[in-house]
Amino acid sequence: MQPAKAKPAILGGPKAVTLDHSQATRWPILTEEDESAVLQVMRDGDLSCHRVTRELEDDYRSYFGVRHALAHCNGTAALLAAFFALDLQPGDEVLVPSATFWASVLPMLWLGAVPVFCESEMDRLGVDPEDAERKITSRTRAIVVVHLWGMPSKMTELFALANKYNLKIVEDASHAQGAWWRGRQCGTLGDVSVFSLQSSKLAPAGEGGVLLTNDDEIVERAICLGDIERIRELDSPSRRFAATSFGVKTRMAPLSAAVGRVQLRHLEERNSRRTDNIEYLSERLERLGVQTFRSPAHIRRVYFEYFVRLPESPIPRDLLVRALQAEGCEASLPRYPLLHQQPIFTEGLFARIARLDGIAGGNVPRYAEDDLPKTTQANMEMLRLPSFPNTHRALLDEYAFAFEKVLANADAILSADLSPPT
Ligand SMILES: Cc1ncc(COP(=O)(O)O)c(C=O)c1O
Repeated sequence: MQPAKAKPAILGGPKAVTLDHSQATRWPILTEEDESAVLQVMRDGDLSCHRVTRELEDDYRSYFGVRHALAHCNGTAALLAAFFALDLQPGDEVLVPSATFWASVLPMLWLGAVPVFCESEMDRLGVDPEDAERKITSRTRAIVVVHLWGMPSKMTELFALANKYNLKIVEDASHAQGAWWRGRQCGTLGDVSVFSLQSSKLAPAGEGGVLLTNDDEIVERAICLGDIERIRELDSPSRRFAATSFGVKTRMAPLSAAVGRVQLRHLEERNSRRTDNIEYLSERLERLGVQTFRSPAHIRRVYFEYFVRLPESPIPRDLLVRALQAEGCEASLPRYPLLHQQPIFTEGLFARIARLDGIAGGNVPRYAEDDLPKTTQANMEMLRLPSFPNTHRALLDEYAFAFEKVLANADAILSADLSPPT
C-alpha cells in the first residue's frame, strides 16, 4: 500500500511492524562455545587468576597488533588506569566529548584532572576538532576520543591537534570493536586505548575491559595501579610495589575472560551481520531525509548502536518516537544524557571529588546546561533504533514502511488531538 494512503497506527490504523522482535534484537549471542569455555574455568577451579585472562590478553594483542593488552575488571577501571598511566596531574585539563557514556570522562576526576567539554560534530558524532582547538589552554594535556556508537571520530584533525599542542590521546573505543579508520583499527589509535567488554558491547565478556598500548611506560603504570599479579612479574624497579599496588584492584574475573575470548572470535562475522541489516534499512531511510551515519569510503564503522538523525523532521521528535512506537517499532530517545548538563558538574560536586580547591590555581571551571548549544540541539534530533544483530529483511522492510507511513502522514499526525502519554 502507498504509505500516504495507509492510516498511521497512532491515529488508529494497523501497525506497520507485526513481526516478532525477540530474536532480531537478542544480545549477546551466547552459544555452547561460551558455555564450555566457562565450564572449563569452573572445572579448573581457579576463579581469580586462571590463565584464561592472560590468553584473552594474548588474543587482543594479536588481533589488534599492539605490544601490550592489559585486562581489567571493567572498562571504567581501564579508563581510570589509562588516565593514571598518562600521569595526569591535579589541574591538568583534558578535552572530552559531552555526548558519551560517563565513564569516558569521570574517572579522571579521581586524579584531579579537569574535563573540558567540547562540542560534537555531526558527521561522525565525535569531538569537534575546531571547538576542541578553541578550548586548548596552557594546562591542556590530553584529549579523549570516543568513536560514538561505532563511528570512528575525525582522526586526521584530532591527530593534527594532538601533534600541534603536544596532547596525549586516550581512545575510548568501547563502541568500536572491529571498526577501522584509514587502514588502522580503532583501539590502536590512541597513546592508550580502552575497550569495555560490558554485556551490550560488540565482543562482550559480561564485565570486563581491556587497555591497549604500544608504550612500555604506560602499561607499567597501569599495572602498578592495580594488577598485583603482574607487578610481581615486572623486571623493572616498579616491582618493589608488588606488596601493595597503588591501592586499586583492576584484574578481570576469569569467567568473564573465558566469554570474552569466544566473543572476540565471532566479532567479525557478527559485526558484518549487523552492518548488512542496518545498511539495508539505512538506504531506505535516507530516501526520506533521515541521516543514518553510514561509513565514508576511508572508514569501516561498526554498529554498536543504531542512531539516526532527523534534522528537518516534520514532526517533533517526541511525537515521532510515539508514532513509530505505535507502529510497533522499538524506537527511543538517546540513552546517554549529555554529561556537561549532569548535576555532578552543574552543581559543582565534581570539584570536591577532584579536590580542585587550591590546587588548580583558582581554575575551577563552571559548567552550565547551555554550554554546548550545537551538541544539545543535535542530541534533540537523534533517535535510537534496534541494532538488529540477528534479523531478516522482512522485519527491516516493516521498519522502513513504518517511517514512510509516519512521515507521509505528518500533517495528519500533527493536527490530531494526541494528548501526551500519562
Ligand atoms: C563509551 C564507553 N566507555 C566506557 C564504558 C564503561 O565500561 P564498563 O561498563 O565496562 O565499565 C562504556 C560502557 O559501558 C562505554 O559505553
